[in-house]
Amino acid sequence: MKKKLAQYFTPTAIVDFMIQLADVDSQSQILEPACGEGIFLERLQAKDYNNITAYEIDNKLAQQHEAVQYESFVSAEISQQFDLVIGNPPYIRWKHLDADLKLEVQKNMLWKAHCNSLCDYFHVFVLRAIELLKENGQLIFICPEYWMNTTHSKGLRNYMVERGYFEAIYRFKETPIFEGVSVSCVIFKYIKSEATEKPPIQIANYESKELPCIKKLENLSFDFSCPPFQKDATWLIVPAETRQKLQAFEQKCKKQSNEDYHTIGEFCDIGNGMVSGLDKTFQWKTPTEELYKQEQAYLLKVVKAKDLQPFQYTKITPYIFLNEIGSETTLRVAFPNFFIHLQDHRPRLEMRYQYKRLISYWHWVFPRNWKLFSKQQPRILVPCKERVSNKDYFRFALAEADIYPTQDVTALLKKDDVRESIQYILAFLNHPKVFHWLCHKGIVKGNIVEFSERPLSSIPFRAINWKDKGEIALHDAITKACSESEIDTLFVMAQLDKLLRK
Ligand SMILES: C[S@@+](CC[C@H](N)C(=O)[O-])C[C@H]1O[C@@H](n2cnc3c(N)ncnc32)[C@H](O)[C@@H]1O
Repeated sequence: MKKKLAQYFTPTAIVDFMIQLADVDSQSQILEPACGEGIFLERLQAKDYNNITAYEIDNKLAQQHEAVQYESFVSAEISQQFDLVIGNPPYIRWKHLDADLKLEVQKNMLWKAHCNSLCDYFHVFVLRAIELLKENGQLIFICPEYWMNTTHSKGLRNYMVERGYFEAIYRFKETPIFEGVSVSCVIFKYIKSEATEKPPIQIANYESKELPCIKKLENLSFDFSCPPFQKDATWLIVPAETRQKLQAFEQKCKKQSNEDYHTIGEFCDIGNGMVSGLDKTFQWKTPTEELYKQEQAYLLKVVKAKDLQPFQYTKITPYIFLNEIGSETTLRVAFPNFFIHLQDHRPRLEMRYQYKRLISYWHWVFPRNWKLFSKQQPRILVPCKERVSNKDYFRFALAEADIYPTQDVTALLKKDDVRESIQYILAFLNHPKVFHWLCHKGIVKGNIVEFSERPLSSIPFRAINWKDKGEIALHDAITKACSESEIDTLFVMAQLDKLLRK
């Protein structure tokens, strides 16, 4: 039940803090749409708020509270409008949602109009909560932060922007608010309003790995304010100064033909690394000289995320890769050392996720982007996720044509007609301005920046004007410096700075 219905209950200090944010009186109509054990009800009643309506799908919970209606909030018939909706709705990714809940959600009109099957269960709770608010009614929820910038949540974001505004957002990047859950959470206060003039959003960051007590929360002050969110645009939660810097960088990457800026996706094909399904088993750790020639030829050179540095990698790990081998007899006869090695791990290999196919135990389960990675051209590798709380750079490294990425790494290969060198693209990606841009406009979950295909392809790119001799000289100097075995990164960045100042 706990996981199936996302039964993670809110600590009392957080509940009290959220109630304090509400601007209501004792007569106000209040809704708790998924009340769990009833902590919000208990604390609201303690503060003399008594016009409370609550829903909970699990009838074993909150039995002591009379206000609770034991039915699903998603399809409950509710004719009332509310002054305040407050709570912590269930947050379940679509793929983890039970079939019966999926069916129910799919029938919901708001879901149909604003969501798709990549959205989360929680979306429908926000949509419905807003629908049930009176004009100027308040929505105060605690929830994970990442829907604020994922592509598939755009429908929900636009719905919110069109029907009101955020008054305040409290961000708990690294604070483990719910036991056993490691997502970054936010508390937001949103006002339903038809007014066209919207105030700036007040932002507070709580920077601690310890659960706050009420005193700490009460003393939390706003760090900055940011302009109200706009329809279809990225929700950028940064101070004005940072916003200006990001815009200035994008401006430097502007196309000559129009106001848009160039992006890496126009210049590179990008692919997430291949999935073996049992990484350690496919790594070949004994000396390769002890293998037969035929076996040596079926070792793939892989660079793991941990072995990537800015510009270069430090180590290659050989992997057994036999996806071309169709029969077990061939495996046994032509690759005897691999055959023996794999037998020790066979039960676990056969338990791997099968991607709705029957996968032979000696095959990698998902050799995605194989065609791209097999191209005879150098590639840039980057860890598919990077924590930024303890570093101020990313690790884009150049690798030769025969090096492959596994699932912890994403690769970029130059498109065929691109004139800029791969070394120039490499240098650009390692520039601090790209770091800064990705930290704010990339896919960021807590302090983790993600490097899958989409966020990488949207990075602004400073293309060379091939009619400008000065730019060509800078491009060539960067290319040459990045081709040395010892790269003078200070020199490279200085040349790039000249281009980014132009
Ligand atoms: C994350 S818990 C939060 C509970 C409570 N609001 C709190 O803060 O402690 C979400 C709750 O939603 C309930 N729930 C899940 N789906 C629901 C639905 N369709 N309608 C009403 N409640 C639901 C779960 O059983 C769970 O108790």
